[in-house]
Amino acid sequence: MLEAVHLTKRYASIPAVQDLSFSLRPGQVLGCLGPNGSGKSTTVKMLTGLLAPSRGLVQFNGRSIQDDVTGYRNQLGYVPEEAHLYPFLTGWEYLELVGTLRGMPRAELESKIDSLLQLFSLHPWANTRRACGSGSC
Ligand SMILES: Nc1ncnc2c1ncn2[C@@H]1O[C@H](COP(=O)(O)OP(=O)(O)OP(=O)(O)O)[C@@H](O)[C@H]1O
Ligand SMILES: [Mg+2]
Repeated sequence: MLEAVHLTKRYASIPAVQDLSFSLRPGQVLGCLGPNGSGKSTTVKMLTGLLAPSRGLVQFNGRSIQDDVTGYRNQLGYVPEEAHLYPFLTGWEYLELVGTLRGMPRAELESKIDSLLQLFSLHPWANTRRACGSGSC
């Protein structure tokens, strides 16, 4: 399903990832362990299509992700190391944004937002923007 083919990335003279190949079938889970600077984030950026490899390619269902990177990303779930929230959106608006970007039908979106707020006990923040400290926000 997902295949890395001789993935290589150099940042100027720095070799970040060298000749990495693997393939994953549906249901398989891959962990990536390594010391700081060993190329984990660079690999994930190439797998998600955020960064073009210097050499090699990523294939999804037999096609290079570069053939249709938007279509590929529509099928991708990605949880970044740090959650970046928009302080100017309420909890409800943030979930609405994510669901809309995912192309969810309106009725389904609204009930999904409601059930997620319920599941994580976040209803009190549904209509609240991030609290501001003493600085501007
Ligand atoms: N944007 C960049 N420009 C130049 N060099 C970079 C850039 N990003 C990463 N590097 C270098 O590429 C190498 C791999 O970095 P990468 O961030 O992929 O490692 P990592 O395994 O995710 O590290 P960490 O465990 O610290 O998150 C390191 O030598 C790093 O300094
Ligand atoms: Mg990293």
